[in-house]
Amino acid sequence: MVEVRIRVNGVTTPLDLQPEVSLLDALREHLGLTGTKKGCDQGACGACTVLVDGTRINSCLALAVQYDGREITTVEGLAAEGLREAFVEHDGFQCGYCTSGQLCSAAGMLAEHAAGAPSAVTEHLAAGPCELSEPEIRERMSGNLCRCGAYNGIVAAIRQVATAEGAR
Ligand code: FES
Ligand code: FES
Repeated sequence: MVEVRIRVNGVTTPLDLQPEVSLLDALREHLGLTGTKKGCDQGACGACTVLVDGTRINSCLALAVQYDGREITTVEGLAAEGLREAFVEHDGFQCGYCTSGQLCSAAGMLAEHAAGAPSAVTEHLAAGPCELSEPEIRERMSGNLCRCGAYNGIVAAIRQVATAEGAR
């Protein structure tokens, strides 16, 4: 067992964990934060996306012991009312299973874009922050799968929030 001080949504909790326990299982099974979903458990679907120090990661691929003392944000602690309302307004979910991962990923993606990070489809890398166009949003959200195909609503919701925040 390894003692880990996991800090999630502003609350630090000491846990004794086997070193192989994933961050996803620590969140769901040890802390009872079941908003973060387990889809594939192998890094392919994005349902388990959380923010670590503001950067999105797949928590199923992360070992909890590596995140001792880091600032983890799950959908339960995500300050993203605008995103949540926009998802509802644009029917950005159907079954809702992928939604918490989509919301965390969207919040992380908007911050990455605001910091000037390019994507694989950004044409002019030296030109600074690009317009957050539909292709940019789709590329930047491509790690988050939705089995129901709510993609059009998800993109519209993110675009609405990006526009409101001035990212166009
Ligand atoms: S559950 Fe982590 S990427 Fe699918
Ligand atoms: S809303 Fe069902 S998987 Fe996305």
